Amino acid sequence: MKDKKITIKDGQSGNEIDLPVLDSILGPNVVDISSLEKDLGYLSHDPGFIATSSCESKITYIDGNEGELWYRGYPIEELAEKSNFTETAYLLLNDKLPKIEELSNFSKDLSNSYTIDSSIKKIINVFNKDSHPMAIMTACLSFLSAKYHADIDIQNQSYRYKSTINLIAGVPVISAWILNYILDENFQTPNKKISIAENFVAMSFPNLTNEQKVLSSKAMDIIFLLHADHEQNASTSTVRLSGSSETSPYAAIAAGISTLWGPTHGGANEAVINMLEEIKNSDKDVEYYIDKAKDKENSFRLMGFGHRIYKNYDPRAKIIHKIAHEYLDMLDSKNPNKPLFDIAMKLEKYALEDEYFVSRKLYPNVDFYSGIVLKAIGIPQSMYTVIFALARTVGWVAHWNEMIQDKNFRIGRPRQLYTGKTKTSYKDIEER
Ligand code: SDX
Repeated sequence: MKDKKITIKDGQSGNEIDLPVLDSILGPNVVDISSLEKDLGYLSHDPGFIATSSCESKITYIDGNEGELWYRGYPIEELAEKSNFTETAYLLLNDKLPKIEELSNFSKDLSNSYTIDSSIKKIINVFNKDSHPMAIMTACLSFLSAKYHADIDIQNQSYRYKSTINLIAGVPVISAWILNYILDENFQTPNKKISIAENFVAMSFPNLTNEQKVLSSKAMDIIFLLHADHEQNASTSTVRLSGSSETSPYAAIAAGISTLWGPTHGGANEAVINMLEEIKNSDKDVEYYIDKAKDKENSFRLMGFGHRIYKNYDPRAKIIHKIAHEYLDMLDSKNPNKPLFDIAMKLEKYALEDEYFVSRKLYPNVDFYSGIVLKAIGIPQSMYTVIFALARTVGWVAHWNEMIQDKNFRIGRPRQLYTGKTKTSYKDIEER
């Protein structure tokens, strides 16, 4: 069979080259343009990476038109129903579901790493109580990158495994300590006998009854699982680019956390609740906000809506919607979060019937309902993106590991379309 290729012809010079087409298992095949400059003298240009594949990956697959998401081939719905965060973390890292002994060893390695350097508490303590927790979180990761700086050996498998475990187990403990701090509580001690989600809930809310702890840990575990990976999103691409310079994995994760923080990415979960609160407290109705989101003169957008890849309902949003329903029902009907949930459902209903949103294929994304569940659990609003980062740490380290073992591993270095001045002579200040 003939090799697949795309032939491109330069209309000016008449030169023609063949570019190889690489087969993907699913989704569009990709054109390898790495010889474009050498053979034809051009670069490709794609601001926002609309049509650019930046790497080869076997971790996560998204079919945006069908609204499907698979981790290592397993549909997210099935994992959310039958698996848990720890097992899913193993799956994302290892390309297979663990056997009993493999899961037990992995869980033990994780819980043995809950005990992180307690100097991190000193770092947290220097921040003002009203500092944004995402800023505190990056500082804590910076501390870890200093602590482990002398050991950096990214080509060494056991170094990578140790860093992976330290990060997946340590970031939730750091997150719980940040929560303890902003809620003015004592720093809690992690419990090695329980899972990451149970330990996070137990450390965050030590005064809950056992029944409340079980209920909240279950919801939290699914939220973690749903946020664990999402292929080459902005923060994961940041971790890959940062890690490609062979920097410390702790520093690369700090870069990922900073990118996730923005309101058009992971920060949207916090922005959704701000928006719902604003609607609840305003004398304007939901239609007014739908019109405002459509108005190009206004910067307001429907937070938690739209996605670069999904042109259908984000499957994670469907699952979180269901959890929100069940969780709020289980708490009690007078739960103060019910009105926010009702507004969210009304917004969704109006948007999904509105020509503006329909024609642009704008649907609720993962962040639309997650804040409602987190609020019901008692997590302060400023911590929502920290929860996202805690869970996404698994995906970030899975991608970091995959990238380093890639046969094409080299530093990432995008090019540019230069539109600045041509060579210009310096003028002394009096002559300008
Ligand atoms: C996450 O990439 C990932 O995988 C991310 C993520 C992950 O798990 O890692 O899934 C997590 O980041 C979820 C997204 C959270 N962000 C938000 O909810 C913020 C609100 N949404 C948007 O800002 C926006 O939809 C993005 C950022 C999510 C996507 O941006 P794109 O792909 O650049 O799309 P676009 O801005 O070019 O929008 C296309 C059109 C535009 O209108 P036209 O210029 O064509 O007339 O749709 C409009 C946009 O103005 N539009 C919206 C809208 N989102 C897009 N209009 C109103 N409200 C919105 N929310």
